[in-house]
Amino acid sequence: MRMYEIIEKKRDKQELTGEEIEFFVNGYSKGEIPDYQMSALLMAIFLNGLTDEELKNLTFAMANSAKTLDLTSIKIPGKYIVDKHSTGGVGDKITLIVLPIVAALGVGVCKMSGRGLGFTGGTADKLESITGYNVNIPINDAIRQVQDIGVCLISQSPEIAVADKKIYALRDTTATVESIDLIASSIMSKKLASGVDKILLEVTVGTGAFMKTLEDAKKLSKTMVKIGRLAGVETRAVITSMSEPLGRNVGNALEIKEVISFLLSDEETLASDEIRDLKEVVYEIAAQMIKMSGVCEDMEKNKADITKAITSRAAYDKFIELIKAQGGHIYNVYMDWIGMSLDMPVLDDKVRFLKEIHAQSDGYIVSIDSKKIGEALVALGGGRNKKEDKIDYSVGFEFVKKVGDKVKEGDTILTVLYNDKQKFADAFEYIEDAIYIDNVENDVVKALQSKPHILDIIDEKSL
Ligand code: URA
Repeated sequence: MRMYEIIEKKRDKQELTGEEIEFFVNGYSKGEIPDYQMSALLMAIFLNGLTDEELKNLTFAMANSAKTLDLTSIKIPGKYIVDKHSTGGVGDKITLIVLPIVAALGVGVCKMSGRGLGFTGGTADKLESITGYNVNIPINDAIRQVQDIGVCLISQSPEIAVADKKIYALRDTTATVESIDLIASSIMSKKLASGVDKILLEVTVGTGAFMKTLEDAKKLSKTMVKIGRLAGVETRAVITSMSEPLGRNVGNALEIKEVISFLLSDEETLASDEIRDLKEVVYEIAAQMIKMSGVCEDMEKNKADITKAITSRAAYDKFIELIKAQGGHIYNVYMDWIGMSLDMPVLDDKVRFLKEIHAQSDGYIVSIDSKKIGEALVALGGGRNKKEDKIDYSVGFEFVKKVGDKVKEGDTILTVLYNDKQKFADAFEYIEDAIYIDNVENDVVKALQSKPHILDIIDEKSL
């Protein structure tokens, strides 16, 4: 078999066989196929797409290109292990809120999360803003932790789906990342290799996401759900809006603070508009995970149980248990407002400067471009341009106003937390461009204020 003929076949829109796909996946991971040939093939795939059979074969070949996990020891009869994956976004702290909630409600989770690159943040980085938290514990220890406390949250193992890692790095430099078929097989190869029974995907759409349109998000969701079906692993996708940053905080330590305050919400806070976007996404994803795990089919009951897990502080206690189990430092603080002391994570959150950004005119906030806010965070040092970049965990943005809010000239829209004045100046160029205020008609205001954050749900019935 020759790589040249495989490239030629794909260039001419012919279907590749399973053997041909295994040949290039394994050959490239072992360094036997050079980058220039693999790049040419990736571009041919980018332009001509993959058939269902090719998609399945590519995903399986990448999933089996290295170690696959065996989670049998944490399986409970009658229950399924559900994984959750987000296609990434700005201010997306959903995994950090959902995992302790579902774990408190009896759903076991062994989750691997990625690091941030470019304008999207990574859950592993956010966790590392907690002093001492170790995202790199060996997989066997992680499995033992799930047996003990029902949850672990570690970084993506370098030993899993090695071919995908190499291919992704090449895609990143050859303008072939934005292919729905390649993204779907890349994500699903890692999920299938991690040994779970079911997969819940959070597919984000908007400026701060890989998918810019709802149509593309649906295509990506359907492609991943289809791969899951071909692999015999039930997969469901919840499409969520990423047109403005999710929640009110963007930045590693700041997002952990937002997770803490969400998990400590009382009924009144949960019902308020303050946290509406986060609540909508958290409740849908957590309820779907509980349903898929076999714990309870009834989504309404699951949502009521989620409220109880939060207001009883069972979910918060699980969050603290997770942090302690992975070496995170905790301190105890007396909270006046609840009249008792609570464990809190120690955060790397010391910043030198704060600056408020004010509205330049009266009107309504029509949009906050999440990609620009993600880029502003990278400019402040809170994200990476290159894999090797070190992160400043303490910097970021606290939004006082969100899309649909009325503002008067001079009102504070957000506060910037930073450590370096030049970096603030660089970030400010993005922030200035990101926020759009206008005097819009009442019906537009209503539409902005009530826009949904769950845009669609794709499962096997949608195919
Ligand atoms: N995330 C992945 O894991 N792979 C892609 O190709 C894109 C996003």
